[in-house]
Amino acid sequence: MFTFFKSQKDKELHLDNIPKHIGIIMDGNGRWAKKRMQPRVMGHKAGMDALQKVTIEASNLGVKVLTVYAFSTENWSRPQDEVKFIMNLPVEFFDKYVPELDKNNVRVQMIGDSSRLPKETFDAMTRALEKTKHNSGLVLNFALNYGGRAEITDAVKSLAQDVLEAKVNPGDITEDMIADRLMTNHLPYLYRDPDLVIRTSGEIRTSNFLPWQTAYSELYFTDIMWPDFDEAALKEAISEYNKRHRRFGGV
Ligand code: FPP
Repeated sequence: MFTFFKSQKDKELHLDNIPKHIGIIMDGNGRWAKKRMQPRVMGHKAGMDALQKVTIEASNLGVKVLTVYAFSTENWSRPQDEVKFIMNLPVEFFDKYVPELDKNNVRVQMIGDSSRLPKETFDAMTRALEKTKHNSGLVLNFALNYGGRAEITDAVKSLAQDVLEAKVNPGDITEDMIADRLMTNHLPYLYRDPDLVIRTSGEIRTSNFLPWQTAYSELYFTDIMWPDFDEAALKEAISEYNKRHRRFGGV
């Protein structure tokens, strides 16, 4: 058991139980920009800065995996210019943010259907993955063109194929066999499922984000818009998580 006493305010926060895997639905970029009379994309730009700060803080606190919802399979329906801007973020991410993450021993990984990503987006993400692949610290796991139901559907297809080829008996299918076919199967077994999911901007839903993996996650909703979410807000969320008693269906 340990507590961080970095500032007076921290003394009031209980941070002795750090969630190993945190999922974040980074919402509110557009509204943040609109409030400042700026184009929506400026919110995404500011959202990148917030993500960098939060990733470094999470790493310092001992979080092992941070899965962030960067682009959902439904986000393609946004105005073309905005989609183009978001798809270009990984290029900026690689040049401006990856060097500092690398210094902090952060490993970048990705889940989602990468086959539909523009080539530059895919290449920039691949470079980030490649550059940080030997790092042993926090895994910053981008959900990019990710959809939870599609992920489960693919797992079912893969199992159905194995049944067809008589490799698996339907009666022998286990939860682990499904989990092993999900996109999070690259994560260490103990950290595959988020302990805590944070959604910013006051929306109270999970929007197809890791539906299987979040079955037992603690959910934390805050009115803070994503670009304003900072180190203190992260600690506040962890402090709230610490107050909850996770029973996994037991007593
Ligand atoms: C939701 O806000 C945010 C997004 C769809 C994009 C978030 C992405 C980042 C912060 C950076 C991702 C980085 C990389 C490298 C891919 P919104 O636009 O839905 O906000 P609104 O609800 O206020 O309109």
